Amino acid sequence: MFIAALLYFLKNALEPKAEIIHLTGSGKCGECHQLRNIGDQQVVWKRSRHSEAYQTLLSAKSVDFAIKSNIEEPAKNRLCLKCHTTEFHLEGTPKAIDYDIREGIGCESCHGAGSEYSPAWIMKNEDLFKSNGGIKGDENSCKPCHSAKGNKDQKLTEEICPFQTEDFDYKTEFQKIIHPLNKQQ
Ligand code: HEC
Ligand code: HEC
Ligand code: HEC
Ligand code: HEC
Repeated sequence: MFIAALLYFLKNALEPKAEIIHLTGSGKCGECHQLRNIGDQQVVWKRSRHSEAYQTLLSAKSVDFAIKSNIEEPAKNRLCLKCHTTEFHLEGTPKAIDYDIREGIGCESCHGAGSEYSPAWIMKNEDLFKSNGGIKGDENSCKPCHSAKGNKDQKLTEEICPFQTEDFDYKTEFQKIIHPLNKQQ
C-alpha cells in the first residue's frame, strides 16, 4: 500500500509539466524586462503595434469590415482573435487569473507561455529556458500571423489578415521591434 502510494507520488513528480505551463501575461515579464541593466524589452513592446492588437479589433475599421462581410464582431471572432491576441494564438494554454486579453500580442506569443521559465536562474541558462517551454524566437515566430505575400484583394482567411496589404520581410520588420539583451550588465 505504502509502496503503491510512493510510486504514485513519484510518477506525478516526474511527469512532464506540460499541462501546468500557463500564460503569465506580459506585465510579469516586464517586472524584470523593463530594467535598463538587462535592456528595455518591455518598453519596445509597449510602443509597438503588437500591444495594441486587441484594441484594433474594437476600431471602426474592424467593426465596419465585419458588418460588410457579415461575420461575427471582431473582438469575439476567433479568426481575428487568433492573430490579434496571445490567448487565442496559443489557444488551449491555461492562463494566470490576472492575464488580460487587452495586452494583445504579448511576449508569450513569440517566446512561449512563461510560468515555468520565468525565474531568472532558469532564464540565464539557454538549455533550461528551452526545456521549460521558452522559445528564443526567429522568422518562424512571425509566419503564423504575417503572410510573406501581402493581401491585395483584402480577403480574410486563416492565413492572412484583410488589412495586411504589404509583403512581409522578416529582416526589415524585425528591426522595427528589435529588443536585445544588454550584454554589459
Ligand atoms: C525574475 C525576472 C525575470 C522574469 C519575470 C522574466 N525574465 Fe526573461 N530574463 C531574465 C534575465 C535576468 C535574463 C537574462 C539572462 C542572461 O543575461 O543571459 C532573461 C532572458 C530572457 C530571454 C533570452 C533567453 C536566452 O536564452 O537568450 C528571453 C527570450 C526572455 N527572458 C523572455 C522572457 C519572457 C517572455 C518573460 C515573461 C513570460 C520573462 N522573460 C520573464 C529575467 C526575467
Ligand atoms: C492570419 C492572421 C490575421 C488574421 C486572421 C487577422 N489579422 Fe488583422 N492583422 C494581422 C497582421 C499581421 C496585421 C499587421 C499587418 C501589417 O501592418 O502589415 C494586422 C492588421 C490589422 C489591422 C490594421 C491596423 C491598422 O490600423 O492599420 C486591422 C484593422 C485588423 N488587422 C483587423 C482584423 C480583423 C477585424 C480581423 C478578423 C476579421 C483580422 N484582423 C484578422 C493579422 C491577422
Ligand atoms: C512578435 C514576436 C515577439 C514579441 C511580441 C516579443 N519578442 Fe522577444 N524576441 C523575438 C525575437 C524574434 C527575438 C530574436 C531572437 C534572436 O534573434 O536571437 C527576440 C529576442 C528577445 C530577447 C533577447 C535575447 C537575446 O539574446 O538578446 C529578450 C530578452 C526578449 N526577446 C524578451 C521579450 C520580452 C520580455 C517581450 C515582451 C515585453 C518580448 N520579448 C516580446 C520575438 C518577440
Ligand atoms: C500572434 C500574431 C502575430 C505574431 C506571432 C507576430 N505578429 Fe507582428 N503584428 C500582428 C498584428 C495583429 C499586427 C497589427 C497590430 C495592430 O496594428 O493593431 C502586427 C504588427 C506588426 C508590426 C507593425 C507594423 C507597422 O508597420 O506598424 C511589425 C513591425 C511586426 N508586427 C513585426 C513582427 C515580427 C518581426 C514578428 C515575428 C518575430 C511578428 N510581428 C509576429 C500579429 C503578429
